[in-house]
Amino acid sequence: HRHLLGIEPLTPQDILAILDQARAFEEVCERPEIKIVPALRKRLIVNLFFENSTRTRNSFEIAEKRLSAEIINFDADTSSLSKGETLVDTALNLQAMHPDLIVMRHSAPGAHALLARHMKASIVNAGDGAHEHPTQALLDAYTLRKRFSRLEGLRVAIVGDIRNSRVVRSNLWLLTKMGAHVTLVGPPTLVPAELKETWPGIEIAHELEPVLPHQDAVMMLRCQFERGTGAFIPGQGEYVRFYQLNAQRLRLCRPDVAVLHPGPINRGVEITSEVADGPNNLILDQVTNGVPVRMAVLFLLCNPHGEQVP
Ligand code: CP
Repeated sequence: HRHLLGIEPLTPQDILAILDQARAFEEVCERPEIKIVPALRKRLIVNLFFENSTRTRNSFEIAEKRLSAEIINFDADTSSLSKGETLVDTALNLQAMHPDLIVMRHSAPGAHALLARHMKASIVNAGDGAHEHPTQALLDAYTLRKRFSRLEGLRVAIVGDIRNSRVVRSNLWLLTKMGAHVTLVGPPTLVPAELKETWPGIEIAHELEPVLPHQDAVMMLRCQFERGTGAFIPGQGEYVRFYQLNAQRLRLCRPDVAVLHPGPINRGVEITSEVADGPNNLILDQVTNGVPVRMAVLFLLCNPHGEQVP
């Protein structure tokens, strides 16, 4: 593959190749005498974030530094976009300076596919609207595989603001391709029934408590109030009453259930602090795992036929 636009075009073998390469890079990250490898020396990567980010942007930048790449962080707020320059023109002008790879987050679904048609550089999708966030799904899969030693047959519930979530769509592609069982949970207004047309094998539930005892992992989603989620729930209090993962509901789960959340967390809304910081949570492990996973993505795009490193 020349680009990573989403999980949809990947085969299970592609996904396993990324996860295996990430495991090799994780060992690099953990060994203080190594930490940095020369794998992308002399490669130029532009990070182009048109939407805010804490985890993804810093994780990509750390991954790039650990691979010895040269990095430019494009600042959309001080760029000529404010003078009306289009996204494609902006990208073509960056392209004229010969970057090898562009990592982009944009609010428009399909913005990356549009750029990929115009660019020689590889494009990596760091989130496009409510469409896909492929490296998040890859790091979630890496975290689940590390915890359970498999993905096939795992039972994963994804709970909350499904409607607005690119994380869900990338996870649906990935988990179903890898043979996991996915149950989407939330109020009917936040779980579009049409999702079953694309992913016929998934289950949809509108009550959380009956689903919890059967899950290996529960992935809680942030209510994306900035994308209008408030209009689809009667009120935050009502949402919390039925869908929040709290200590009482956690007791309905298997004792070894894994609790995931892509972040940022709305503490006290979709999850209580007691659960988010409790022994079942893998939330910061997800963040740690994001670095080797993104190293693997960047490395494999630049070396599609290369040897595994280190
Ligand atoms: N998980 C995630 O994408 O977080 P950021 O929006 O902070 O990058």
